[in-house]
Amino acid sequence: MKIQRVSALYFSATGNTGKAAQTLVRALAASLGCPWEIRDFTLPQSWERPIELSAGDLAVVALPTYAGKLPNKILPYVQTGICGNGAFALALVTFGNRSFDNSLAELCAALEGNGFHLLGAAAMACRHAFTDKLAGDRPNQQDLEALKDYAGKVTEKLLAGEITSLSIPGDSAAPYYVPKGLDGQPAKFLKAKPQTRRELCAGCGLCARLCPMGAIDPQDPFIVPGTCIKCQRCIRSCPQGAKYFDDPAFLSHVAMLEENFQEPKENLFLL
Ligand SMILES: Cc1cc2nc3c(=O)[nH]c(=O)nc-3n(C[C@H](O)[C@H](O)[C@H](O)COP(=O)(O)O)c2cc1C
Repeated sequence: MKIQRVSALYFSATGNTGKAAQTLVRALAASLGCPWEIRDFTLPQSWERPIELSAGDLAVVALPTYAGKLPNKILPYVQTGICGNGAFALALVTFGNRSFDNSLAELCAALEGNGFHLLGAAAMACRHAFTDKLAGDRPNQQDLEALKDYAGKVTEKLLAGEITSLSIPGDSAAPYYVPKGLDGQPAKFLKAKPQTRRELCAGCGLCARLCPMGAIDPQDPFIVPGTCIKCQRCIRSCPQGAKYFDDPAFLSHVAMLEENFQEPKENLFLL
C-alpha cells in the first residue's frame, strides 16, 4: 500500500505528546520513504479550520490523557475537524504514569468515526504535567527507540497489505476518571486557576499567547477570565517560573498521585 505522506497531528500543552508524535512520524517517513509534516493543533486559532486528509495519507493523531479520557474541550475538534477521507491513522495517547484508562478507546472511536482507517494504536507513559515525580524523565531514550521500532513494524504491515482489526483496551463511552485527594475522597478543583507571583512576572504575556483555551488576559496575565483546563502550559512555559497553582484540592490530588503512582508504567503498541 503506497503512502504518499505522513503527518503528525497533535495537541500537546506541555510538549511530550508532540515529541512522541514527531519521533514516530519521522521514523515512519524514513522507513516509508515519503515526506512528512507537522500539524500542531494546541492553540485555539488552529481549530478554526479543519484538517483534511485523503487516501494515501498516514496520520499519527496524538493527544494526552486527561482524567482517563481525551481533553474534553479538544475532543469536538478531533471528532469533526480532523477528517480522514479514507486516510490511515495511528492513534497515540500519552499518559502521566497513572493510567490512560479510556483515552485510547475514545481516540480510536473518534478517528474511525471521521473517515480514518485505523492502522495501529499506542499509549506512551510521559512526564505527568502536574508533577515531575511521575515519569519525570519520560519519554526517555528507550521510549523513543520503542517508537522507532514500532514505526518499522507499521511499515512492514503496510507493505504486506495486512490491515487487521484491532482490539483496543478501554471503553470510549466510559465516564471521566474522578481525581482523588490524599484522603481518598474526590478532589474538586474544576474551578482552580493559575496564580501569578507578582515579584517574578515580567509581564511578557507568553502565558496568554500559549494558553490553549485563550483563558489568560493578554493585557494583564494576572487575570484568568476564561476556562482553565489545568493543562499546566502556563506553569511550565513561564521563563520566570511565575505561575503556580495553590488550590488545596488540586495540590492534594497531586500529592496523592505522587504517593501512589511512581512505579514506572509500560507503553502499549498495538498493530
Ligand atoms: C488536566 C490533566 C489531567 C490528566 N489526567 C491524567 C490521567 O487521568 N492519567 C494519567 O496517567 N495522566 C494524566 N495526566 C497527565 C498527562 O496525560 C501527561 O502528562 C501527558 O503526557 C501530557 O502531555 P503533553 O506533555 O503533551 O501536555 C493529566 C494531565 C492533565 C494536565
